[in-house]
Amino acid sequence: MMMTMETGVENLFGRVDAEVIVDALVDTGWIVLPEFLPLEPVRELREQAQAQWAAGEFHAAGIGRGQALGVDESVRGDQVQWLERAEDGSLAAYQAFIEDLRLSLNQALYLGLFEFESHFAVYPPGAFYRRHLDNFRGTSARLVTAVLYLNEDWKEADCGQLRLYTNGSDGGEYVDVFPQAGTLVLFRSSRFWHEVLPARRERFSLTGWLRARGSVV
Ligand code: OGA
Ligand code: MN
Repeated sequence: MMMTMETGVENLFGRVDAEVIVDALVDTGWIVLPEFLPLEPVRELREQAQAQWAAGEFHAAGIGRGQALGVDESVRGDQVQWLERAEDGSLAAYQAFIEDLRLSLNQALYLGLFEFESHFAVYPPGAFYRRHLDNFRGTSARLVTAVLYLNEDWKEADCGQLRLYTNGSDGGEYVDVFPQAGTLVLFRSSRFWHEVLPARRERFSLTGWLRARGSVV
């Protein structure tokens, strides 16, 4: 049977119940889902990111907020391309999944999640992102982080893992998540310190945040 893009995308939403994710975010606050996204839609997303990267549409990611926003490659060396709402294709399907998750999380957690902001990111070889919180002491509206990885045949020797510190502090116990095509990781943005270790090859991802209404600048 021919696998159409639609089939791949529909499968995605049959695979993991939003409830499984909601339970994990309530319970431990984080979850890693290997093979969440089938290869076909992953490829479509990566090709989209690669085309924009090749066209020079990415820019160096900033750190800090408002006036303090600046680029500092000793903190993070990734390049990003912010995403708009997609009309069709795998990006639209992923956004629809996230929207479903947003509604489920609001029912379960009363988080008042209001919107999803996301970007493609690429870490050129050697680039990293030092240990940080996505929402430092509640100073941003980001409440849930979702990172979807887009790299086929990633080997542990390629490094570039996300190191997620699981005990609520900036050290101690951690899990390493390799940026393998189709892996999705979600965590509560204000609770989990994490870092991206330098990779030996180009590392693509689609990173987004569910945010509360309003933004803190
Ligand atoms: C980030 C981040 C993790 C990753 O963009 O804030 O921590 O694995 N990304 O790409
Ligand atoms: Mn982060």
